[in-house]
Amino acid sequence: MRKILVTSALPYANGPLHLGHLIEAVQTDIWVRLQKMLGHDCVYVCAEDAHGTPIMIRAQSEGVTPEALIARVATEHARDYADFLIEHDQFHSTHSPENRELTAFMYARLRDAGYITRRPVRQAYDSEAGMFLPDRYVKGGCPKCGTPDQYGDSCENCGATYSPADLVNPVSTVTGSVPVWRESDHLFFRLGAFEEMLREWLATDALQAGVRAKLEEWFEAGLKDWDISRDHPYFGFEIPGEPGKFFYVWFDAPVGYLGSLRALCNRTGRSFDDYMRPASHAELYHFIGKDISYFHTLFWPAVLEGSGFRKPTAVFVHGFLTVNGQKMSKSRGTFITARHYLDHLPAEPLRYYFAAKLGPGLDDIDLNLDDLVARVNSDVVGKLVNIASRCAGFVARAGGTLATALPDAALYDELAGARGRIAELFNARDYAAAIREIMLLADRANQYVDHHKPWTLAKDPARAAETLAVATEGVNLFRVLMTFLAPVLPRIAEDAARFLGVPLDRWDAVATPLLGVALNEFQPLATRLDRKSVAALVAAGTPTAAPVTRAPTTATKTTAATPATTVADIKDFSRLDLRVAKIVSAATVDGSDKLLRLELDVGDRACTVFSGIRAAYEPAQLNGRLVLMVANLAPRKMRFGTSEGMVLCASGNDDAQGLFLLSPDSGAIPGMKVT
Ligand code: MSP
Ligand code: ZN
Repeated sequence: MRKILVTSALPYANGPLHLGHLIEAVQTDIWVRLQKMLGHDCVYVCAEDAHGTPIMIRAQSEGVTPEALIARVATEHARDYADFLIEHDQFHSTHSPENRELTAFMYARLRDAGYITRRPVRQAYDSEAGMFLPDRYVKGGCPKCGTPDQYGDSCENCGATYSPADLVNPVSTVTGSVPVWRESDHLFFRLGAFEEMLREWLATDALQAGVRAKLEEWFEAGLKDWDISRDHPYFGFEIPGEPGKFFYVWFDAPVGYLGSLRALCNRTGRSFDDYMRPASHAELYHFIGKDISYFHTLFWPAVLEGSGFRKPTAVFVHGFLTVNGQKMSKSRGTFITARHYLDHLPAEPLRYYFAAKLGPGLDDIDLNLDDLVARVNSDVVGKLVNIASRCAGFVARAGGTLATALPDAALYDELAGARGRIAELFNARDYAAAIREIMLLADRANQYVDHHKPWTLAKDPARAAETLAVATEGVNLFRVLMTFLAPVLPRIAEDAARFLGVPLDRWDAVATPLLGVALNEFQPLATRLDRKSVAALVAAGTPTAAPVTRAPTTATKTTAATPATTVADIKDFSRLDLRVAKIVSAATVDGSDKLLRLELDVGDRACTVFSGIRAAYEPAQLNGRLVLMVANLAPRKMRFGTSEGMVLCASGNDDAQGLFLLSPDSGAIPGMKVT
């Protein structure tokens, strides 16, 4: 029996799953379900990617521990996956004892074999926050074209790539202070030592053509040593024997696949070594997006080889999901989280749509919402489910039991006989072709029913047997098609199985038709999608919770706890000029223990606001943060200066409940009107 281990990339534990994550999970899940139906011993593992600077900073800004943050996000992710019918055999976390142990073990092997070197690295350092800054946490002017406010690694305007040291007027995005340059020792993995092995691996079937081409480029550019350590403070695993140094998140992340496997093995009694020892006959496949190819096609196989494990059988790379032709973006309303989608539509239509669009290559995939509605209504409802609903009644009327022979065995064999070809298309990840093929067969089935018109036959009592025979043929054709779509539509398949009274979990079961057995009552298996719910999906945008910081104090309040007693008119609201503002700097105010002085960017102008939030926020936390402000308040002279507006906070009746600045989703631009 083939033993197969499959993974999807581990989602970062600092934000919600979105439809980009989902297309990968659906692609993987369909493949795994197919392998299981084919009778292979296939397991699917995944995990939360819980380490790294962004998670540490996000936890800080929410005023929670990283452990609490990743635990909360893990629960949300698990629910989203479950609701999209993604069936992991194990869903774990990189912040787990299994992963800690494996990471340390693999590192020790690499070190002992001489694959780790040490050398000093000069890096931006934020002395206020007391931390080294990853490139993305330094911003400044592009050294090439001068565009301000660019990240430390590349310019969004001219595309130049550089190092943060080249930026004009660099600032730390953590505190807004000017970074200094500091040196510290880092540990490097000697990737270059594996070039020959990687070139050989490249020559096998492990990679798609598009990925191979990319790899050739990387070889040309030369395989550089890979920096795998980060200095304290860092949320991750401390490197054994290197106090104050932590494994870089991308070192222990792929090890997380194995940590999850180890947890699965511990739970089920499977043997970890059977999967991972060098000569293992088990197959190992990673599904990933094209943005993380380097990690999976160079670093990861080299790390596996260097630490004495087997390499992946293949890495399956997919393209990026766009929405209505655009990159997913919060400001355009095309950033759709998994939860937001589920609030409007069921999961299976999207699974079907993704399947209908996914090919084996690296092309991007566009989610066109009108197209989604059209396809699902025409294929799943109009063609597939329709066959069953047209025939079920005639079987029921004849007593509920199928006939004992098929009137058109050749047609049945034509459909059932396609199973090898269709399995091969799914297996080769050409889901689009598989779906096309299945829908052609569905057309054949519908033509059969149309041609024999059981509704006409049924009017003639003398032709009762013939009616039942035609309905029996129809139900059997439906069973074949539903089996082929079971990996894509697992819930509908389960409901169909209940109707048919037999499971639809074995691909080859369709070799024999279903005859002489009693059916159960037919329930509608899928309903038409309504264009309105799809429109609502986009119009509503995606609500994402802004990070909140809690601390007890008083301040400018919008109190939600007491419902308003007077009725406000819309005109009252429109008298307020509410705007998005960016905190350019925040500072304490001499002589006040309540106030912070905020310098705000309101798009076309700057202004100063004194806000009573000092007890709730450290000034350093606020730099760069987007807030909402009342921009047309009459300026108010205070002892410390003039306040030109008011920033909005939420708070309870009781100060001890804390105070929470209101923020728009990231992507909003200073000066935008709040409506
Ligand atoms: N944590 C790393 C992966 C570590 S694997 C050892 C990571 N996380 S991620 O959350 O950013 O992305 C997870 C997966 O989702 C990646 O394979 C990524 O390519 C994929 N996608 C993220 N956005 C996507 C789209 N818009 N479209 C398709 N896939 C996308 O990277
Ligand atoms: Zn530039």
